[in-house]
Amino acid sequence: MSVTIIVGAQWGDEGKGKIVDLISKQINIVARYQGGANAGHTIIVNDKEVVLHLIPSGIFHKKVTCVIGNGVVIDPVALLDEIKMIESLGVKINNRLKISHNAHLIMPYHKLLDSLREESSTKIGTTGRGIGPCYIDKYMRVGIRMVDLLDKKTLREKLISNINEKNKLFKNIYEKEELDVDQIINTYIDFDKKVDTYVTDTSLFLNNAIKRGKNILAEGAQGALLDVDHGTYPFVTSSNPTSGGACTGLGIPPTSVSKIIGIVKAYSTRVGNGPFPTELNNNIGKNLRKIGHEFGATTGRPRRCGWLDTFSLNYSLTINGVDEIALTKLDVLSSFEEISICTGYELDGKNISQFPTDVNTLEKVKPIYTSFRGWRDIISDRKKFIMLPTECKKYIKAIENLINTKITFVSVGPKRNETIIR
Ligand code: GDP
Ligand code: IMO
Ligand code: MG
Repeated sequence: MSVTIIVGAQWGDEGKGKIVDLISKQINIVARYQGGANAGHTIIVNDKEVVLHLIPSGIFHKKVTCVIGNGVVIDPVALLDEIKMIESLGVKINNRLKISHNAHLIMPYHKLLDSLREESSTKIGTTGRGIGPCYIDKYMRVGIRMVDLLDKKTLREKLISNINEKNKLFKNIYEKEELDVDQIINTYIDFDKKVDTYVTDTSLFLNNAIKRGKNILAEGAQGALLDVDHGTYPFVTSSNPTSGGACTGLGIPPTSVSKIIGIVKAYSTRVGNGPFPTELNNNIGKNLRKIGHEFGATTGRPRRCGWLDTFSLNYSLTINGVDEIALTKLDVLSSFEEISICTGYELDGKNISQFPTDVNTLEKVKPIYTSFRGWRDIISDRKKFIMLPTECKKYIKAIENLINTKITFVSVGPKRNETIIR
């Protein structure tokens, strides 16, 4: 085994953190490949809930080395807070964290621009973590990278040029106060002392590990339907959470990838704006939110909830090339008498054959549902598939048939041991 990619197959928050943490016990390296502190990956460590935003979800396994790849955008403030939080739990990071010298840095002006853009143009409902504006600078080739932190002279020059340019926007377009160049420079120049032990050529590190036959898990953030190229644009994030993003975001070749695991929640959720065909604006949706504790791990916003959508899922599994599925939060459905699955969409009275990513079309589609009897039984203590209630097994098998992919992990609770491996 070499590289396994973990991708969110829906709109994020599928339970990637839990599954990555679970699988990490057989893994040498866990590497994040895109996104930034917009992610919130929850893990239960010794009965305590921990939310990770930037550091890969393998960090709680002593033998695992964690990599933050070149494709990630890093907010140094969030990173240092997270390192402190993990160490406060008695976990040593030391040389177990490696950060790509090519990863871009999120600056205070990125966060400010993120919120100003939200007020003045199409409201995406971003996490406000500066993700979009940072990726804009990356692709404009004016971004500041981790390696720049190690060279004070270059850092100063790049910061002055960037802040002066952004100040024109703040003053003339947004009619806001200009940022203080010196204050930002002093803060960021200080970061080098704290992070330079972690900064390295992670692509080289990973490729050497691949040659030595190490097991690597590439951890995606967000989900395929939030992908900037393949998601419900413009209501997406600014990176490529889909499996292809793992290779560019880590600097490893596609030929090193041996498996792609899609994480699928047993129902659907979405945070922020944008079309969501199976959304339930009724008591069922409210109950899913309440029972599933569906509130954003990063922003605390209530997540929009609805039934599982295998039509969008089939699109997602195709573009990701998913080999197998981890189905999560199945226990949340235990309270429902009847459970529905969306199997297709109707548009203007006719069934359509392909998932439309065009948002105007997607806003108009009507989901076609198949209903299943609920199992109305607690399942979090079940250790084997055969121990699950009959109706529950039927639900799992129906999903497998609809998406033509094997479900190898069934997660029946947030803890590591609340998982059935088939
Ligand atoms: P991620 O962003 O994909 O890592 O997912 P989040 O951490 O944002 O959201 C998943 C939430 O569901 C977290 O609160 C997890 O602790 C929780 N969770 C994960 N798997 C299960 C499960 O099988 N059952 C239940 N009840 N909760 C789960
Ligand atoms: P994890 O990794 C769910 C959503 C935001 C917004 C859109 C763009 O925990 O699954 P951004 O701040 O990225 O520019 O916001 O993407 N979004 C997420 N939704 N889970 C996430 O991460 C998300 N990260 C961003 O709500 O709709
Ligand atoms: Mg999350």
